[in-house]
Amino acid sequence: MKNKIKYILIIVLVSLVIMQFIRPDKNEGGFESLVAFKTDTSPPEEVLSILKTNCFDCHTNQTTYPWYAEIAPISYWLADHVKEGKEELNMSAWETYSIKKKDHKLEELIEEVEEGEMPLDSYTWIHGKLSKEDKEKLIQWVTLARLKYKNDLKVSSK
Ligand code: HEC
Repeated sequence: MKNKIKYILIIVLVSLVIMQFIRPDKNEGGFESLVAFKTDTSPPEEVLSILKTNCFDCHTNQTTYPWYAEIAPISYWLADHVKEGKEELNMSAWETYSIKKKDHKLEELIEEVEEGEMPLDSYTWIHGKLSKEDKEKLIQWVTLARLKYKNDLKVSSK
């Protein structure tokens, strides 16, 4: 029995060591990719700062990695969140979205923020939650940005 436990521990340890050599690709495309998003939705400085601290890591082409992101399996886990987050909403790919899609994503953004679904819980354990004021600022900005898209949609459907 004792030998069995020792054997299992060694396997776990060796696996952990091997895992450190398998590094997922990093999401480091730079913030320049956000030009279209910023021009389109005109976030005020305060809003940009809220987005940068709370959302950009998983919803743009540039993640700011903490030191522990180097450690497997945490690195796999973070890479997965970033990949999944970008699939749903990538602010760096804004110019590839149709007006309808942009408007819909912003609608979802209000919903996720209001319901406290975003940022992901695992993220807020470390980075903290959005304050009530932050939520209000985000929603106010998105509501304005959506007015513009509503107008564009009206024009394009005529
Ligand atoms: C740690 C990574 C992470 C962070 C940080 C994060 N998200 Fe997300 N986000 C995800 C993932 C993963 C999904 C897809 C799965 C889900 O909806 O839970 C998602 C989905 C979304 C969606 C849904 C899109 C759709 O069409 O359904 C919106 C909107 C969104 N996030 C907005 C935000 C906003 C706004 C912030 C910052 C306040 C934020 N997210 C922070 C990972 C993240």
